[in-house]
Amino acid sequence: MIKRLIPAFIAITLFSCEQVETPQNEEQQATTTVKNHSYGNIDEISTNHLHLELNVDFENKALTGVARHTMDNKGADKAVFDIKKMNIEKVTLGKKGTETETTFTIGQYDSLLGAPLIVDLSSEDQFVNIYYSTQKDADALDWLPAELTGSKKYPFLYTQGQAILTRTWIPVQDTPENRFTYSADLKVPSELLALMSATNPTEKNETGEYSFEMKQPIPSYLLALAVGELDYRQLSDNSGVYAEPHLIDAAEAEFKDIPKMIDAAEGLYGEYLWDVYDVIILPYSFPFGGMENPRLTFLTPTLIAGDGSLVSTVAHELAHSWSGNLVTNASWNDFWLNEGFTVYFENRIMEEVYGEEIADMLAMIEFQELKRSVDDLMAEGREKDTYLKLDLHGRDPDDGMTDIAYVKGAFFLKTIEEKVGREKFDVFLNAYFKAHEFKTLTTEKFVEYINENLFEKENIEFNLNEWIYGEGIPSNVIQLNSDRFVVAQELAQEVKDGNKLPTDLKRSDKITQEWLAFIRAFDGELSKEQMIMVDEQLNFKNSGNSEIMSEWFVLGIKNDYKEIRPEIKAFLKKVGRRKFLEPLYTTLAKTEETLEWGKEVYKEARPYYHAVSFHTIDKILGVNH
Ligand code: BES
Ligand code: ZN
Repeated sequence: MIKRLIPAFIAITLFSCEQVETPQNEEQQATTTVKNHSYGNIDEISTNHLHLELNVDFENKALTGVARHTMDNKGADKAVFDIKKMNIEKVTLGKKGTETETTFTIGQYDSLLGAPLIVDLSSEDQFVNIYYSTQKDADALDWLPAELTGSKKYPFLYTQGQAILTRTWIPVQDTPENRFTYSADLKVPSELLALMSATNPTEKNETGEYSFEMKQPIPSYLLALAVGELDYRQLSDNSGVYAEPHLIDAAEAEFKDIPKMIDAAEGLYGEYLWDVYDVIILPYSFPFGGMENPRLTFLTPTLIAGDGSLVSTVAHELAHSWSGNLVTNASWNDFWLNEGFTVYFENRIMEEVYGEEIADMLAMIEFQELKRSVDDLMAEGREKDTYLKLDLHGRDPDDGMTDIAYVKGAFFLKTIEEKVGREKFDVFLNAYFKAHEFKTLTTEKFVEYINENLFEKENIEFNLNEWIYGEGIPSNVIQLNSDRFVVAQELAQEVKDGNKLPTDLKRSDKITQEWLAFIRAFDGELSKEQMIMVDEQLNFKNSGNSEIMSEWFVLGIKNDYKEIRPEIKAFLKKVGRRKFLEPLYTTLAKTEETLEWGKEVYKEARPYYHAVSFHTIDKILGVNH
């Protein structure tokens, strides 16, 4: 058998060009099986500790340096890593300083998974050092030029690893099944501060050199980095907020309840095991509401509504410190174990801190979205994507990021809580988190665990299989109601009936979720004239509240309310959060005229978005870049 050892420089050339497909020989095929969206051969050899030495080069939009893996070798003669859009310079074996170069091959490139990096070693080898640099279009990395940041003076970089993007900025065995500790030495431009999902500095130094440590073992998707002009404000002994200088005051005020949330979470499900809980407000391009990077939650600035009304996202990311970061889904098919538990837990934190009425309104808004998502998935013939347990084999794990994992997952747990009683359920959940901390879990293992430790123990019948392996929303789902929503819905009915709004009604009279219930109650049946009337009094179109604006804009597009196009355009050119972009562009794509306008706006807006968002929108609008 011919062993194809590609010298480093050829490997770089081959790999930097996506079109070139390197044929796999038999041996490669045998050594590179894909499991859980990863080529990593973790059953034979797996990373225990990762040390990064990286230079952050804004001019060339590249991270350059070395990833040093300390591995647990169970007798392997190869270590397989995941890489994507990355140049491998060389690979060495041995401890730093006493390294010897080894041979490696790069397997066939797959547009979803990237390629396996196969490193030759012996069963005695434990230290693998991969010298590499990232490519400009690495999907995890958002390199923002100074013009796109708040101050417009300094550039900004942040990463987004979940679900399978870490492999575009670090060569790793990129599967949630394996956990490792990490450390890093970074060099950044001296005007900027670097932060990671690890121990962090709170202020800049003159050298631009920073060291980091994450002592608790984490899955690869939780590795994270942010570099920019950043200030820090402490909120309590173990929490604080980072933001660009122009946002730091607003961020500190908006998120002042974080210490209360931490107390509430610990009271519910046990000690916070990550020492510090900080948040960072990223630039507007951040594609998510939040990302639970350990010790340092990443947040979108769209949460800063001025009245604290969108802080449940912080409760959500904090809750992940237990569900997700301590107890991790073993594969992306089990994603609901991360997100369903987290949405449930988030709601419990909100109830502790703000009361049951608020918590119920939040849950009801989510439930409305779940019903819509189930209908959409069914209409698309994706019935199986309404199961909690997913089958994402050969598909993008992003396909699983629907309200099913999040809200069906949470309502499954809420329904169990209702059936067994809160007290017993909390005892169960505490034991669940304790029993699985720093471990990964499959849905099947969860089923075994809950059957044994809750249902059999308490002698309870529950249609668990229907919830997990069945379509849609089971009929025993818990029912919630809210008097305040009824009032908001009645108000919408008044407008529908052709009446005016009460003249003294102000937007500040209701919280965000009540206004969402109001807008949704129209069910799309609102004339342009009525929308103008509502805007004259309540000014939704310029409310500065991203949740209300995006919902209102979708309705505006549907109802040919062209007068708000400048506001829609400004929004699309500012906000890169996929949750808002997706419904807006999807609605625009529905008629020829709006699609044309949407494409024009998108041309200008696309450079403001992270790859996670623009890949999705490219597909919606059918544009090819
Ligand atoms: N972990 C997710 C974000 C994520 C999931 C990124 C899958 C990539 C792949 C995060 O915790 C999340 O759920 N964010 C939500 C927040 C919301 C549910 C409160 C978001 O961004 O909308
Ligand atoms: Zn989440």
